[in-house]
Amino acid sequence: MSSLNHFSLLVIDDEPDLRTLYELTLLREGYDLETAGSVDEALLRLQDRSYSAIITDMRLPDGSGLDLLRWLEKNGRREKAIVITAYGSAENAVEALKAGAYDYLTKPVDLKQFRAVIASALGRGGAGFPTGVKWSFMPKEDGKPHYLVCNADESEPGTYKDRYLMEFLPHLLIEGLIVSSFALGSHCTYIYIRGEYAWIVDILEHAIQEARDNGFLGNNILGTGFDCEIYVHRGAGAYICGEETALLESLEGKRGNPRIKPPFPAIAGLYGAATLKPTTLVLQSFPATVALILVWLAYS
Ligand SMILES: Cc1cc2nc3c(=O)[nH]c(=O)nc-3n(C[C@H](O)[C@H](O)[C@H](O)COP(=O)(O)O)c2cc1C
Repeated sequence: MSSLNHFSLLVIDDEPDLRTLYELTLLREGYDLETAGSVDEALLRLQDRSYSAIITDMRLPDGSGLDLLRWLEKNGRREKAIVITAYGSAENAVEALKAGAYDYLTKPVDLKQFRAVIASALGRGGAGFPTGVKWSFMPKEDGKPHYLVCNADESEPGTYKDRYLMEFLPHLLIEGLIVSSFALGSHCTYIYIRGEYAWIVDILEHAIQEARDNGFLGNNILGTGFDCEIYVHRGAGAYICGEETALLESLEGKRGNPRIKPPFPAIAGLYGAATLKPTTLVLQSFPATVALILVWLAYS
């Protein structure tokens, strides 16, 4: 990769831990990086100087990422803009899609380079295991089907983080699934969801249809030649089905008994094919990580 010192970025996100994630990753990579926590703060910085690109969260305390995109357009600014997430209403989500959310796939990315950067990505893998390492266990172009299965079982009594994320940020999960499917060469992706989360199934199905209507799912996504479908599968409410191999048994229509390992799912998972099965949280933080990666691949 070429030197990135010339490349300047403004990251706008109200979550301090995400700003830190960007700083840790991008400063280490040699970027000229500034961050802002609100629309006002971002505008102050933008009035002061120009950047090569901005990466903005959609929902900000005093407005939205769309306000920033509109400001850039109105002022004839040349900064490239990436919107990370569509938060809240369906209208907001669709506006975000039109404004550039989900647009990572059309960036000029070399898949091998992309995967190499993912392998070193900071992530939120289970038990603190680095996301990139876990993902690198999946076979690469072996000509066989690969599956990505999102573990949204959340069967541990008293847990609710996945429920909250899916209820209020369904497009963030879908976005993470599309980008992850692209990286892993998976064209068929499942969300295995706890049986009791019936109303969230409706929310997810609705958001998936919105993504499909806007060309982000289905065949030849955004003209990239990449095909991807997402299916929501509702479990029957068994705690054990959150365990990764029992989940696969259940998804195949069998009783949810855990399988003996090895082989591990990354080698022989769903229907005997290579399967990666991250939790919802990993997938929902993934677009932010991937956005960073794509920015430095696309513009370096
Ligand atoms: C009995 C049992 C129940 C589990 N339930 C869940 C669950 O509801 N949700 C979940 O994400 N992982 C659950 N797990 C962990 C999964 O087996 C697996 O480690 C996880 O989906 C991998 O996510 P990661 O890629 O983010 O590390 C459970 C594990 C066991 C042993």
